[in-house]
Amino acid sequence: MQQDERGEGKQLASLGKTTTGEEERSTTEKLATIRMSANQDKTDIPSRPELFDFHGVSMVHYFTDNWENVQNFQARPDDILIATYPKAGTTWVSCILDLLYFGQKFPERQTSIPIYNRVPFLEIKIPAMHSGTDIAENLPTSPRLIKTHFPVQFVPNSFWEQNCKIVYVARNAKDNVVSFFHFDRMNMVEPEPGDWSSYLNRFMEGKMVFGSWYDHVNGWWKKKQTHSKLHYMFYEDLIEDTGRELDKLCSFLGLSPSAEEKKIITSGVQFDNMKKNDMANYSTLPVMDFKISPFMRKGKVGDWKNHFTVAQNEQFDEDYKKKMKDSTLQFRTEI
Ligand code: PPS
Repeated sequence: MQQDERGEGKQLASLGKTTTGEEERSTTEKLATIRMSANQDKTDIPSRPELFDFHGVSMVHYFTDNWENVQNFQARPDDILIATYPKAGTTWVSCILDLLYFGQKFPERQTSIPIYNRVPFLEIKIPAMHSGTDIAENLPTSPRLIKTHFPVQFVPNSFWEQNCKIVYVARNAKDNVVSFFHFDRMNMVEPEPGDWSSYLNRFMEGKMVFGSWYDHVNGWWKKKQTHSKLHYMFYEDLIEDTGRELDKLCSFLGLSPSAEEKKIITSGVQFDNMKKNDMANYSTLPVMDFKISPFMRKGKVGDWKNHFTVAQNEQFDEDYKKKMKDSTLQFRTEI
């Protein structure tokens, strides 16, 4: 495995910064071979981590081990950060942005490079896999699309200094916690979720990886007041009308794709199409056990109704009112 690690590292380091012609093609091929875990056997699967308090936020070490490099990450002015609380629609928006910028120029990206290598997860560091910063630093594209689940106060300074564009996606708390629960069941780099009822209580207490949903969505919402280059989107709006949200996104990004391009993008990112697309559905990542639950699970608004009991719902609503009393954020739990 040492061997593999060294080999992969070398390959990663040799990635150029070119974005056109032959070199781009070979770069794409190289990127395609950077599997976060391609050479893994069962012994490489990381063990489930414990939650701990990290600067006031519940975290697991897989997302803090690379803290120094992450904090020192040098953003470029044209970098685009996709920020979300986990399970709010990160992959969906990542695929949309990737298609918008590179769908026409480098169509082979879509069919050969998993989304987690096209849009690296900045803070991740898992044994035997490239760290998010390594992949991001070696991205050959311009702009670089980078994903984070950090609460706003953890974002490396350079993103603010460089005045980068940021797309934040938020999802209603009830569907978000349900999706997170199923994800934690199948993903070995997440803590053991336990049963649904205790999980829901933990969510209300903010004892989740990346902390409190309430703090996350509100922290980023507040940031919008001072950082004009922040586009705040809602998962429910995307479900309701993907084309409309794509138009809003384009106007924020200053892009004007043709009607035909937009059609291709909205069709490519439909739930069923992403679910069967191995480059978008995370099926190439062995830390996830799809026999327990698939990454592309339901993709719906209102699935929480299949999980919350009447009593849980009442308790949740009461608690929600208190936690969100000072917020102007409005979420839809059904559409
Ligand atoms: S992660 O692991 O935090 O990056 O996950 P994330 O991508 O943020 O969220 C995964 C949930 O988003 C759903 N999803 C979609 N829904 C509708 N349409 C499309 N195209 C789509 N792509 C991803 C995915 O199914 C997860 O939600 P659940 O409710 O679990 O199905």
